[in-house]
Parts: sequence; C-alpha cells; structure tokens
Amino acid sequence: MAPDHLVFLRRAIRHPDQLATPFVTGDRLARQLAGIIPEACAGTVVELGAGTGALSGPIRDRLAPGARHLAVEIDDDLVAHLRAHKPWLEVVQDDALDYDAVLARAGIDKVDAVVSSLPWALFDQPQRRDLLAVIGNRLVAGGVFATITTWMAMPHRVRELREALDGAFDEVVETTTVWRNPPPARLFVCRRPY
Ligand SMILES: C[S@@+](CC[C@H](N)C(=O)[O-])C[C@H]1O[C@@H](n2cnc3c(N)ncnc32)[C@H](O)[C@@H]1O
Repeated sequence: MAPDHLVFLRRAIRHPDQLATPFVTGDRLARQLAGIIPEACAGTVVELGAGTGALSGPIRDRLAPGARHLAVEIDDDLVAHLRAHKPWLEVVQDDALDYDAVLARAGIDKVDAVVSSLPWALFDQPQRRDLLAVIGNRLVAGGVFATITTWMAMPHRVRELREALDGAFDEVVETTTVWRNPPPARLFVCRRPY
C-alpha cells in the first residue's frame, strides 16, 4: 500500500467520522474533479478537506505558474503529512466551516474554483447551507465549485446535499458515476451562486 494510503487509513480508523472513508480518492476521479478548473488557471483555487493530497497534484497540474492553491485540512497528522510530502502546497490547518475567516487569514478575497472532498454527512443542513453560501459569495464571476459524493453516502444525505446545492447555485450538474474509484463516486459541479 502506498504511504499516502496508509497514513489516511490510520487516521480513518482513529477518526472515522471526520474522514468518512478509508480510501483516498483515486487518480481518475481526482483528475475529473480537477478538470473543473480552467486550464492554466492563473487565479486562486481552494481545496477543502485535502487529506493526504490525492486531489492536490491533479489540481496543481491545472494551474499556471504564480496561481494560488490553498489546501484546507482539519486533521493535524494529515496537515503534517501534506507539509512533509507536498512542500509546494500552501496548507492551512483549519475548519472549512470557518471558510470566510480562513480566506481572510490567507489574505484571499475572491476564489476562481473550490474543490471539495469534505464529508458532507458530518454537517447538519444549516451548516451545509451556510458553508455553500459563503463559498458562493467568494467566487469570482464565472467561478466554479465542485464536490464529491460517493456510493458510501446515505441516499437521504445525498438528497440533503443536492437540496443545499440547489439552494446556493443556479446551475448544479451531477456527473455520471466514476465506477473505477474506490468507492464509486459522482461529482456535483456548481456555477452561478445566488
Ligand atoms: C473524504 S476525505 C478526502 C481526502 C482527500 N481530499 C481525498 O480526496 O482523498 C475528507 C477530508 O476532509 C477533512 N475534513 C473533515 N472535516 C473537515 C473540516 N471541517 N474542515 C477541513 N477539513 C475537514 C478530513 O480530515 C479528511 O482529510
């Protein structure tokens, strides 16, 4: 097993709720998710729930030199792992629910793209709605937000997430399932916040 997977698995055993899955996102899904970022993006991208950085490399591949890529992760061991293994990544140990404060501390006003693999089941519906609203508020015109939902998620949780997304964005597109990801997963890609 790759070192990233082992580190993630260890944390998932210790904090199953916080990590929500024992698996890191597979490369195929990670590249699909990162593909929402305009090619050679020169702006700012925020990655929420960075884990061991399964999405970080594919995101980085979409960015032009000088673009900003902020990775937010709450878990201290995973933050230490990211800092040790991805020294090019700007990592902050913080709670994504404090999104506005996280951006303020990082000196970021507007964001071109937000890529999230946060376990949405951790949050209640008001927290989901509030977080999506602040994410939308901070997007540039034409900005994009995307998140993952896996087959491990309870159907009512996915419905709640979809409702929260529909309440926050004019356009919410659900992709077909990426079967080759452990576990199979889909993306919600959202544009034009209300
Ligand atoms: C499903 S894992 C995804 C990890 C990685 N991005 C991947 O795709 O393999 C969710 C990650 O979100 C982090 N997380 C959970 N709650 C968070 C919060 N409130 N703020 C920031 N990170 C959080 C977890 O510690 C975990 O690393």
